[in-house]
Amino acid sequence: MNLWQDCLTNRGLPIGKWAHYFPIYERHLSSWRNKDIFVLEIGVAGGGSAQMWNRFFGPRAKIVGIDIDPKCAEHEHFGVSIRIGDQSDPVFLQKIIDEFGFPDIVIDDGSHRMEHVLATFQFLYPKVPKNGIYFVEDMHTSYWPGYGGGVNNPSSFINICKHFIDQLNANWDQSGQIQVDLITRQTYSISFYDSVVVFEKGGVRTREAPVVGTGYLSPV
Ligand SMILES: C[S@@+](CC[C@H](N)C(=O)[O-])C[C@H]1O[C@@H](n2cnc3c(N)ncnc32)[C@H](O)[C@@H]1O
Repeated sequence: MNLWQDCLTNRGLPIGKWAHYFPIYERHLSSWRNKDIFVLEIGVAGGGSAQMWNRFFGPRAKIVGIDIDPKCAEHEHFGVSIRIGDQSDPVFLQKIIDEFGFPDIVIDDGSHRMEHVLATFQFLYPKVPKNGIYFVEDMHTSYWPGYGGGVNNPSSFINICKHFIDQLNANWDQSGQIQVDLITRQTYSISFYDSVVVFEKGGVRTREAPVVGTGYLSPV
């Protein structure tokens, strides 16, 4: 059963995901099923998505949901751990890492407020291991002033991501205007979808080891 079928046939706790997110999940997450991984979802709400991840990734995956609402603690059950705290609080996030390790997959479906999304990303992204995935959902709020966003607002996460595109390519800047940083060194790809940004961690050694062969396309 794929994730969309799982959601449609769900008779358990409510799942609060947009329909168009499901092909995005399938694309980026299918290869992670039935593996010993740690999946951290920020935002538990009714508890259904944590259960959905438990079914999707299988019994070897450790699913942890975090939420600021203490009522969410009641959604803890076999295969799903829930911890209560603020996603923008680095002390709380460090406690999660101390208890569960570094998350292979982060799904930020929390407050969707710009300052929270950025604080969480700044803390967690460097800790996600190579080949890990970092989802930021509901980024339509990047365009909403009520969430700290707004079109071309420098603080909106989408706007910050526009700069990440340059950082991803920093090794190619010959003008010295773009400095290599953690995004350059640790990011394999950044994918943009309607309301969702997906980061795949990796590291491409551009300019250090060009591949000579039929697959090599000259960047010049
Ligand atoms: C969109 S809902 C999560 C939906 C859930 N992931 C699902 O798919 O069913 C957002 C949740 O984020 C929680 N939240 C809001 N602000 C937060 C914060 N600062 N830290 C952690 N969780 C927060 C809310 O309590 C709410 O339960």
